[in-house]
Amino acid sequence: MILVTGGAGFIGSNFVLDWLAQSDEPVLNLDKLTYAGNRENLASVQAHAGHLFVQGDISDSALLDSLLAKHQPRAVVNFAAESHVDRSIHGPEDFIQTNIMGTFRLLEAVRAYWGGLTGEAKPAFRFLHVSTDEVYGSLSKNEPAFTESHPYEPNSPYSASKAASDHLVRAYHHTYGLPVLTTNCSNNYGPYHFPEKLIPLMIVNALAGKPLPVYGDGMQIRDWLYVKDHCSAIRAVLRGGRAGEVYNVGGWNEKPNLDIVHTICALLDQLRPKTSGKSYRDQITYVADRPGHDRRYAIDAGKIERELGWKPVETFETGIAKTVQWYLDNQDWVGHVQSGAYREWVQTNYAARGA
Ligand code: NAD
Ligand code: TYD
Repeated sequence: MILVTGGAGFIGSNFVLDWLAQSDEPVLNLDKLTYAGNRENLASVQAHAGHLFVQGDISDSALLDSLLAKHQPRAVVNFAAESHVDRSIHGPEDFIQTNIMGTFRLLEAVRAYWGGLTGEAKPAFRFLHVSTDEVYGSLSKNEPAFTESHPYEPNSPYSASKAASDHLVRAYHHTYGLPVLTTNCSNNYGPYHFPEKLIPLMIVNALAGKPLPVYGDGMQIRDWLYVKDHCSAIRAVLRGGRAGEVYNVGGWNEKPNLDIVHTICALLDQLRPKTSGKSYRDQITYVADRPGHDRRYAIDAGKIERELGWKPVETFETGIAKTVQWYLDNQDWVGHVQSGAYREWVQTNYAARGA
């Protein structure tokens, strides 16, 4: 079996659902169920014999030791993390704790377990660490996209904590020989995306008649990848990636934030026209910028295509249409995640911005 951490979050739950749909190999899913973890994402595999869910923390060494000894996974895929830049600005502590200390404890437990493997199982074992393009810092308009050899220049507490975890993973390969793989991916979007991030927040706010809060001038650029394409990239790296290597993953889809918001509004105007006949665009509101806001991320995903034959299936146009439709079809899911804690976060992040 494989051990997946953070498998109740946005990308992790998509990964678990796709894995169980495509493989007979069972998944042990370890997730702390923070505000971002949601067992409702996994409702369709609740009774699946190949899915074993354990609520727990990747910082809990005793739990990790016992799970590894009992289930003897052939690979670990580490999604567990605090993942939202704005939250890391308001309170970095949890990011240091989970992203750095948690990854360290997980690496230690895995190193001990892997050290005890014998025969073929030892060289075949893999520790795949899921990371972000944000560790490379910010690009100016005409700079080439990030390759795997771009220097690390993280600018937010989130990206700094992910950079630290990537360095630990690298060090465990060089020092102890642990067969690790690291993927650095651009911004994902798709089903089960928690509505604190740009795309789901804009869809949810638009439908609720609320302001669409664009930070600064809205001309910050991100590369966007449909989440199912990220999941297939991780499967490809797990299958064929060379131990110790890093693979950048991206969608070849660089877009300014404002374009994203306009696209979402246009889709909603078509799929759920307002009775007033007005466009959702009228709800766009410019608000105070994010401190230290990275201007541009761009991914060169050439290495994973050359070495492993992976490239994205979805274009931005097909992926965003599926995503908007998913939110329209899953209004119950949206209602359930907008708990008291969610409303508190919206107040913390947006009240001071003038939204
Ligand atoms: P998410 O915030 O939606 O989910 C994170 C999950 O990890 C949640 O289920 C949460 O309960 C769990 N978790 C948090 N702390 C934990 C702990 N200490 N122990 C066990 N579980 C814990 O995040 P996501 O967007 O799904 O991102 C998953 C991974 O992919 C992260 O490592 C993130 O840095 C990386 N990544 C995300 C994106 C993106 O666009 N979302 C892009 C590139 C890389
Ligand atoms: P986000 O989804 O938080 O991802 P990241 O910061 O990891 O790239 O934000 C994507 C972009 O959208 C980023 O440039 C910040 C911007 N943004 C807004 O303009 N308004 C918002 O309400 C949010 C959440 C993000």
